[in-house]
Amino acid sequence: MKFFIDTANLEQIKEAQDLGILDGVTTNPSLMAKEGISGKEAILNHYKTICEIADGDISAEVLSTTYEEMIKEGEELAAIHPNIVVKIPMIKDGVKALKYFSNKGIKTNCTLIFSAGQALLAAKAGANYVSPFLGRLDDISVDGMNLIEEIRIIFDNYMFDTEILAASIRSPMHIINCAKVGADVVTSPLASILNLLKHPLTDSGLAQFVADAKKMD
Ligand code: G3P
Repeated sequence: MKFFIDTANLEQIKEAQDLGILDGVTTNPSLMAKEGISGKEAILNHYKTICEIADGDISAEVLSTTYEEMIKEGEELAAIHPNIVVKIPMIKDGVKALKYFSNKGIKTNCTLIFSAGQALLAAKAGANYVSPFLGRLDDISVDGMNLIEEIRIIFDNYMFDTEILAASIRSPMHIINCAKVGADVVTSPLASILNLLKHPLTDSGLAQFVADAKKMD
């Protein structure tokens, strides 16, 4: 399973990259706004910087919602760096845009996926990734993990190349459960990735080893 980080924060991206486990980055307009990025030039520059820091696919989301505007914006984003993946919302014009970019060989990530039918449509249109939002489904008492399992079955039935990019991750358990059901990618905040490291028995075991190592000096 690939690990992406879900942030536009350059320090956090660097930290995950330095850890040696990072396969890519996802962003969205809310994450970019959180970093105080505004204006077209600043946005394009920020994506360029992210591409220079991190290896792998970097999702850059369009801000527009009509077919023509998404095509124009997506082409500008794709021109920033070969690792840019154009992130397109799951709307009717978005499906058309996915097909357009697929025909042009530009990679896409279809975002705001909340049902198996939406994932199927995005895959049919040639999306490279679909992003089902686990946490936001859990937030409204719908089992987000169940959606990942459904999409896995459908994509396997028809051997779609589209990768399942589990998004809206809230905890390390989401990451573990995604690995159990066969998500191709998990995009997560840095905190959830780092929480995978933690176990009290590791800490107490290491403290004992360090104490015993001193006896051998
Ligand atoms: O990038 C899309 C997704 O991961 C958003 O997550 O936490 O805003 O539901 P969240």
